[in-house]
Amino acid sequence: MKHIIKSDQFTKDNIESLFDLANKFKSSPIQENLKNKLIGTLFYEPSTRTRWSFETAILKLGGQIVSMEMANNSSSSKKGESLKDTLKVCSQYVDALIVRHPENGVIEQAAEYADCPVINAGSGSQEHPTQALIDLYTISNEIGITSDLKIMFTGDLNNSRTIKSLLKLIKNYNFKILANPSSGLACNFHYPGSVSYYYDKEIYHQLPDIDILYMTRHQSERDNAKGNFTFKINYELAETMKKYAIIMHPLPRNEEIDPSTDANPRAVYFKQVKNGLWIRMALLYQILNNN
Ligand code: NCD
Repeated sequence: MKHIIKSDQFTKDNIESLFDLANKFKSSPIQENLKNKLIGTLFYEPSTRTRWSFETAILKLGGQIVSMEMANNSSSSKKGESLKDTLKVCSQYVDALIVRHPENGVIEQAAEYADCPVINAGSGSQEHPTQALIDLYTISNEIGITSDLKIMFTGDLNNSRTIKSLLKLIKNYNFKILANPSSGLACNFHYPGSVSYYYDKEIYHQLPDIDILYMTRHQSERDNAKGNFTFKINYELAETMKKYAIIMHPLPRNEEIDPSTDANPRAVYFKQVKNGLWIRMALLYQILNNN
């Protein structure tokens, strides 16, 4: 059985074959590889893209879904059942479980109890492996992966699980890492290379020099996410970046990206959304296809 729990379980070779498969689904999106498979989604936190893209991916592969959203209110966790027990129970019915949870580490532990593969759809502030794969796939498709790429992370660095998971993937490729935390939301990244921090207005001098601007919202639903935006992007500021630089965001966005930015060709966040479908089809195929 193969769980998807942490992004560092993926080697460079795994990533390459996953991206090849995602490209195949992109060019031929309707398949029957999950015919007769039933997949459960258990979400203990709100979600739009992650749940819909997984569910769309399952349906496009010919599989079926049983879905529980707001599981914190509607599942037996309301009656005190542990996630371990819930996963043990739900895994008796389905071929795989896709789980999102607000606490760090619990999906990782609970997966051991499940009698089917478990896919981490975002846990706490630390892990979101499938989003990290989508982000790297987007970088690969838009500008190509090379070791000298400069990526700048901005916003709520402390709580962003997508950034932490992406860092674990890009350490394989020696990107140069720059960080512009919102005030009060800094975080020491666990990254083998050096990370250069830029505060307040210092970021504007860096914009013309970076290849990827990766922005995040303030995660106001988490206790320690009180901070002020030091940096927001708009169309004109995006124009100061390299012609082929890209602006990414896992979404949902708040005030950090002005809607005027959407018309700038560097904005690729809606392409990330679409890429989510191909990557999640490829992951489900790898775990569940037995043809
Ligand atoms: C992110 C998440 O849930 O971690 N969104 C996503 O899955 N695409 C980012 C966020 O909530 O800010």
